This record gives sequence, structure tokens and C-alpha cells, in this order.
Amino acid sequence: MAIVFITGSTDGLGRAAAQSLLEQGHQVVLHARSAERATAISELESHSARVVIGDLKSAAQTRHVADQVNAIGRMDAVIHNAGVYTERSRGPTPEGHATTLAINTLAPYLLTALMKRPDRLVYLSSGLHRGGEGSLSDLDWTRRTWDPAKAYAESKLHMVALAFALARRWPQVLSNAVDPGWARTKMGGAGAPVGVATGQRTQTWLAASDDPAALVSGRYWHDLRQQEPAHEAVDPDFQERLLDRLGELTGVMLPPA
Ligand SMILES: NC(=O)c1ccc[n+]([C@@H]2O[C@H](COP(=O)([O-])OP(=O)(O)OC[C@H]3O[C@@H](n4cnc5c(N)ncnc54)[C@H](OP(=O)(O)O)[C@@H]3O)[C@@H](O)[C@H]2O)c1
Repeated sequence: MAIVFITGSTDGLGRAAAQSLLEQGHQVVLHARSAERATAISELESHSARVVIGDLKSAAQTRHVADQVNAIGRMDAVIHNAGVYTERSRGPTPEGHATTLAINTLAPYLLTALMKRPDRLVYLSSGLHRGGEGSLSDLDWTRRTWDPAKAYAESKLHMVALAFALARRWPQVLSNAVDPGWARTKMGGAGAPVGVATGQRTQTWLAASDDPAALVSGRYWHDLRQQEPAHEAVDPDFQERLLDRLGELTGVMLPPA
């Protein structure tokens, strides 16, 4: 049985993934942005390992989340699930970054760099990542007019590029990205065609299954099948320049293999 950390597990696909893993007998480390939001998962908490608290908008709190998880121990798998969609303005966050970039890109990068290395990493992307090419010249939206949908698409392309970069750099870790489909959550809305049970399936399978098909790395998945992601995401040159920029923005470099 595995122990799996899931960011953003108070609602939507993260909560559904936690429920599914617990039902399969795994341990789950849950995550809420605040102690107040943790009350939304008190019923899951009784069956699981622990809850860690921290708002991923803040780099300081994100570092504290990594510390809390490290204090519990090394995770077998981490599902980087927490995310925001179309933020009305750039922000900024306490550290001065665009909110979408901070929560959707900088936080998973920081957690990856600061947490004890798991065996498996799963990053939540989206089919919308295909509209996110060309972000490197202004990753933090300091020069462009704010475009919420483009900022989201870019952040989801970053997740594929990060997953693929780690698959290259850390060959002992299985690192994959997932498009969960348009799912009925707070983010997806009530009219979305996919239920949360289906929407969480691929990421929990990649995190914990011993099915040989799940034991691969550097792939982009949708509905338990591999797909071809956007060109930029698979380009090692883009991946390396993205990692350099994320290192500059966070002050934290990815540890070597
Ligand atoms: N739903 C879709 O159709 C869809 C499609 C493609 C990709 N995705 C991706 O799937 C992932 C999960 O989406 P979802 O639909 O389940 O979204 P959701 O229902 O809005 O849930 C998002 C989760 O992230 C947490 N979160 C957001 N901002 C946070 C912050 N600053 N600090 C800590 N936690 C934070 C939320 O906490 P609170 O409960 O406190 O808000 C919640 O637990 C996201 O990465 C999203 O981009 C979703």
C-alpha cells in the first residue's frame, strides 16, 4: 500500500482522488489552503494519514507545506492537483507574482524541489495547455496585458514540461502529466460532461497502480491513454529554459538526480 500526497484535496478532483485511494486501502496526506478549509475534509481525515495546511499562493506557505509533508515522511507518490482557472487579475501574490503562475506553476515546482523525492510524480495539466505556447519571454506577466485564459493555458503547459523534464533529469522517478477532461467541479462547472469519479481515475492509477502500463515516465495522459502534448512541452530546450526561469523566480534550484 502506498502513501500519496495530494495538493488541493478539499474539493473537486483532488478530493475525489483522495477518496478513491483511501477506498483502495492506500494512505493519503491531504492538503487544505487553511485550517478553516480543512474542516471540509474532516470526514476523510479520520481514515487517512494527515492533513497539511498552506495557501499555495504564498511561496512562504508553500515551503511550509513541503516541511509538513517531509515531517510525515517520504511519499510514495505526489499528485500535484491544486489549481485555479481564470483569475480576474494578475494579482500579485505576497511575493509579487501573478496568482495563476504562483499556484499552478511555482507551487508544484517548489514542492517538487523541496520535498523528499517520491517514486512517482503526477502533474495535473489540461487539454487547454495547447493554447499556452510562448510564455518564456514574460512568464510572470509583468509586461503583457493580463489574459486569464492564456495565463491558465500557459500554466498547464508548464505542468507537462515540468513532468517531462523531471522524467529526463530524475530517471529513477516516474513523472507524468494528466489531462483529467472537462469535469464537474467548482472549476469545471455543473455543465461539464465528466463526473469526478472518472476525472480522478488516470491520476490515481498513475500514482498507485502496479499495472505495467502505469509504470512509465515522461508521458501525457487522458482517460488512461497516452496522448501527444503540445510541441513546446516536449522540447528539452524549452523545458530547461523553463526550469532556469522557475529557479530564478523561486530562488530554489531543482536538486540533481
Ligand atoms: N475540472 C476540470 O474540468 C479540469 C479540466 C482540466 C484540468 N483540471 C485541473 O485539475 C485540477 C483540479 O481541478 P478541479 O476541477 O478539481 O478544481 P476545484 O474543484 O476548483 O478544486 C481545486 C482544489 O485546489 C485547491 N486550491 C486552489 N487554490 C489553492 C491555493 N491557493 N492554495 C491551496 N489550495 C488551493 C482548492 O481549495 P479550496 O477548496 O479551498 O478552493 C481545491 O481543493 C486543477 O489543477 C485543474 O487545473 C480541471
